[in-house]
Amino acid sequence: MTNNFINIKIELKRDNIEQTTDYKYLKRSEDERPMALDVLLQAQEKEIDDLAFRYGCRARNCGVCTIDVNKKPRLACRARVKDGDTLSSMATLPVIKDLIVKRDMISRQMVGYNKISSNNDLNVEADSSYHNLTSCIECYACLDGCPLHKKNNLENNKSNAAYTYGNPFSFLKLQRLYLDPLTPKTEKKAIIEKAISLGLETYRSEYNHLKIKCGVGIDLKKEVIKPLLENAFNDKEQ
Ligand code: FES
Repeated sequence: MTNNFINIKIELKRDNIEQTTDYKYLKRSEDERPMALDVLLQAQEKEIDDLAFRYGCRARNCGVCTIDVNKKPRLACRARVKDGDTLSSMATLPVIKDLIVKRDMISRQMVGYNKISSNNDLNVEADSSYHNLTSCIECYACLDGCPLHKKNNLENNKSNAAYTYGNPFSFLKLQRLYLDPLTPKTEKKAIIEKAISLGLETYRSEYNHLKIKCGVGIDLKKEVIKPLLENAFNDKEQ
């Protein structure tokens, strides 16, 4: 007889208590390989009706569904899971409840920063390095393994203030602005200063060991960190 169930562990963090629930996912067909999000939706419908998690587009566009699968950040709507896998909240951000993490201290790092007009009446074409960076969906998978983000006081930021130190995502935003053909020269200098104020220099010594992975496949080391280091410190040897 075929087994139509797969066992998935769901780690929950609620009221400061960590608990693990074994959930038996009922496959919809014998050969189904469900996504992590399918498991969460079914678990919520059938057993844990107050299970908290985020999702939006279900199509790898919105970036809000990121969770850890076996301790690695993955988009829940795109990560296939198998018997014995563990789903938990992203380890790199503080938990609000269950699989929902607090994301706003990251986006707040850029508040008020983009002062450049978005009106491109002249249709000035940007080159491909700029367009590559526009595929970022803000899933924050790149926080994993970032030595700079680790320096932030992740759990005790009660004031909701932006994190002090940057991360590959915030540097990607800056590099994209830097490459934008509408960004004036004077503003480019400010962009590099902003990157330095977020701790860019840490990446100089860590560059060769840096293990950061983008959720949608952007080469963050080559396309973001390297050019920023070159422009900030004239580091050509990376
Ligand atoms: S739900 Fe939008 S990327 Fe997963």
